[in-house]
Amino acid sequence: MSEEVKIIIKVDGLESSIKGSKEQTILDSALENDIDAPYSCQGGACATCIGRVISGNTKMEQNHILTDSEIEDGLILTCQAFPLTETVSIDYDDV
Ligand code: FES
Repeated sequence: MSEEVKIIIKVDGLESSIKGSKEQTILDSALENDIDAPYSCQGGACATCIGRVISGNTKMEQNHILTDSEIEDGLILTCQAFPLTETVSIDYDDV
Protein backbone atom coordinates (compact mmCIF):
# COMPACT_ATOMS: atom_id res chain seq x y z
CA MET A 1 0.00 0.00 0.00
CA SER A 2 1.37 3.38 -0.87
CA GLU A 3 1.84 5.87 1.90
CA GLU A 4 -0.10 9.03 1.34
CA VAL A 5 1.51 12.38 1.97
CA LYS A 6 0.45 15.98 1.68
CA ILE A 7 2.41 18.15 -0.74
CA ILE A 8 2.11 21.90 -0.70
CA ILE A 9 3.37 23.39 -3.93
CA LYS A 10 3.96 27.00 -4.80
CA VAL A 11 4.47 27.83 -8.46
CA ASP A 12 3.98 31.15 -10.26
CA GLY A 13 2.73 32.68 -7.01
CA LEU A 14 -0.05 30.12 -6.61
CA GLU A 15 -0.06 27.76 -3.67
CA SER A 16 -1.81 24.40 -3.89
CA SER A 17 -2.14 21.53 -1.48
CA ILE A 18 -2.32 18.09 -3.07
CA LYS A 19 -2.15 14.46 -2.09
CA GLY A 20 0.96 12.57 -3.08
CA SER A 21 2.68 9.33 -2.21
CA LYS A 22 6.07 8.32 -0.91
CA GLU A 23 6.38 6.15 -4.04
CA GLN A 24 5.75 8.94 -6.51
CA THR A 25 7.98 11.87 -7.40
CA ILE A 26 6.87 15.32 -6.42
CA LEU A 27 6.77 16.35 -10.07
CA ASP A 28 4.51 13.42 -11.01
CA SER A 29 2.13 14.23 -8.16
CA ALA A 30 2.04 17.86 -9.22
CA LEU A 31 1.34 17.04 -12.88
CA GLU A 32 -1.34 14.51 -11.93
CA ASN A 33 -3.07 17.30 -10.05
CA ASP A 34 -2.92 19.67 -13.02
CA ILE A 35 -0.32 21.90 -11.42
CA ASP A 36 1.72 23.83 -13.95
CA ALA A 37 5.09 22.70 -12.62
CA PRO A 38 8.12 23.25 -14.86
CA TYR A 39 9.90 20.19 -16.27
CA SER A 40 11.61 18.83 -19.34
CA CYS A 41 13.82 15.72 -19.29
CA GLN A 42 12.29 14.00 -16.26
CA GLY A 43 15.62 12.21 -15.94
CA GLY A 44 17.54 14.38 -13.50
CA ALA A 45 19.66 16.04 -16.18
CA CYS A 46 18.15 19.36 -17.25
CA ALA A 47 17.37 21.23 -14.00
CA THR A 48 14.11 22.68 -15.35
CA CYS A 49 12.21 21.11 -12.46
CA ILE A 50 14.22 22.63 -9.62
CA GLY A 51 12.31 23.56 -6.50
CA ARG A 52 13.15 24.48 -2.95
CA VAL A 53 12.07 22.38 0.02
CA ILE A 54 10.49 24.78 2.50
CA SER A 55 9.47 22.15 5.01
CA GLY A 56 9.61 18.38 5.28
CA ASN A 57 12.13 16.06 3.74
CA THR A 58 12.69 14.46 0.36
CA LYS A 59 15.08 12.01 -1.24
CA MET A 60 16.41 12.24 -4.79
CA GLU A 61 16.87 9.15 -6.91
CA GLN A 62 19.28 10.73 -9.39
CA ASN A 63 21.04 14.05 -9.45
CA HIS A 64 23.53 15.06 -12.13
CA ILE A 65 23.26 18.76 -11.53
CA LEU A 66 22.87 20.04 -8.00
CA THR A 67 25.97 20.56 -5.88
CA ASP A 68 26.13 19.45 -2.26
CA SER A 69 25.80 23.02 -1.07
CA GLU A 70 22.71 23.59 -3.24
CA ILE A 71 21.19 20.45 -1.77
CA GLU A 72 22.06 21.63 1.73
CA ASP A 73 20.33 24.84 0.78
CA GLY A 74 17.12 22.89 0.14
CA LEU A 75 17.16 22.68 -3.65
CA ILE A 76 15.84 19.51 -5.28
CA LEU A 77 15.11 18.17 -8.74
CA THR A 78 11.41 17.54 -8.29
CA CYS A 79 11.37 14.92 -11.08
CA GLN A 80 13.74 12.84 -8.94
CA ALA A 81 12.54 13.67 -5.45
CA PHE A 82 10.27 11.48 -3.36
CA PRO A 83 8.62 12.72 -0.17
CA LEU A 84 10.02 11.23 3.03
CA THR A 85 7.79 13.04 5.49
CA GLU A 86 3.98 13.24 5.94
CA THR A 87 3.99 16.77 4.64
CA VAL A 88 6.40 18.46 2.28
CA SER A 89 6.27 22.01 1.09
CA ILE A 90 7.97 22.91 -2.20
CA ASP A 91 8.51 26.34 -3.68
CA TYR A 92 9.29 26.50 -7.40
CA ASP A 93 9.46 30.27 -7.32
CA ASP A 94 12.31 30.56 -4.80
CA VAL A 95 15.19 29.02 -6.75
S1 FES B 1 12.90 17.56 -15.51
FE1 FES B 1 15.00 17.59 -16.07
S2 FES B 1 16.05 17.40 -14.18
FE2 FES B 1 13.95 17.22 -13.64
